[in-house]
Amino acid sequence: DWYLEDFIEQTIANIKATVKDQKVVLGLSGGVDSSVSAVLIQKAIQEQLTCVFVDHGLLRKNEANEVIEFYEKHFQMKIVKIDASEMFYQHLKGVVDPEQKRKVIGKLFIDVFTNYIEEHNQEITFLAQGTIYPDIIESSKKGHSSKTIKSHHNVGGLPKDLKLTLLEPIKDLFKDEVRQIGQSLGIADQLINRHPFPGPGLGIRIIGEVTKAKCDLLREVDAIFIEELRKKKLYNKVSQAFATLLPVKTVGVMGDNRTYENLVALRSVDSIDFMTAQASHLPWKFIDHVVGRIINEVEGVNRVVYDVTSKPPGTIEWE
Ligand code: XMP
Repeated sequence: DWYLEDFIEQTIANIKATVKDQKVVLGLSGGVDSSVSAVLIQKAIQEQLTCVFVDHGLLRKNEANEVIEFYEKHFQMKIVKIDASEMFYQHLKGVVDPEQKRKVIGKLFIDVFTNYIEEHNQEITFLAQGTIYPDIIESSKKGHSSKTIKSHHNVGGLPKDLKLTLLEPIKDLFKDEVRQIGQSLGIADQLINRHPFPGPGLGIRIIGEVTKAKCDLLREVDAIFIEELRKKKLYNKVSQAFATLLPVKTVGVMGDNRTYENLVALRSVDSIDFMTAQASHLPWKFIDHVVGRIINEVEGVNRVVYDVTSKPPGTIEWE
């Protein structure tokens, strides 16, 4: 498509002209927006770009490695991984309120990233962000709205006193344009067409206090669900699918023994804009198979429920 190729060429030329021989840092999350921004910048200025990937311990199974390996291998990107997971678990001790979790996670995330920048401040001139057009609209609307249901924190997340110039190569684009550009840049389909994943990650998919053990358990459940959706070619048919760990134990039976273990909920939704959504009508046989695998393979889970609530009244995430 000439329009896309034109955009890519123009954007790379613009980045070159703006950045010249200076250095750029970008927070890489693995999401499509930050990834496409990173690749465009990498193509323009190569090793003058450093990507920082913060692992907050609330990611999905193997997520950090998959993302980092892909961009290192295919785009020779320079990526610094900061494993801050222990610090996040520490700060999340005793935190149960959903908005409080978002605050704690969001603030710590910015602190970790800011620390990195401050340590390398001498060298860095530009801060690149994967802001897209709807982010700008959303955040300007939010300022006027008195009724925010959940605080999302994608825009304006960094302290102003970092003396960096913002570089936002895709800020005029819509999501599907970003995806198309990502595709034509050669980013793997698995990474381009990923379901949305919230910034606070598994933190808001563990109801109640978040611990490493609970994250590890939920990672296994989630990985089975997603693996099966991919295997049965259902992943791209639904808009978002995930598991949530509930703070409830239930009685079950395994062989001759009574069990008293955790309950997880699976949720899959179909949605156009994530403002409204319907529970996906996944085939019963499929759900049955996934539940069987989860209970057999994940120690500590003896019951699984499937969430059939629409949005509204339910939100997509449980918190
Ligand atoms: P809800 O749960 O509000 O979710 O129906 C709508 C979409 O937003 C995602 N979501 C978040 N994304 N930070 C994010 O970056 C958040 O705190 C957050 N909360 C929800 C959710 O996964 C869904 O795609």
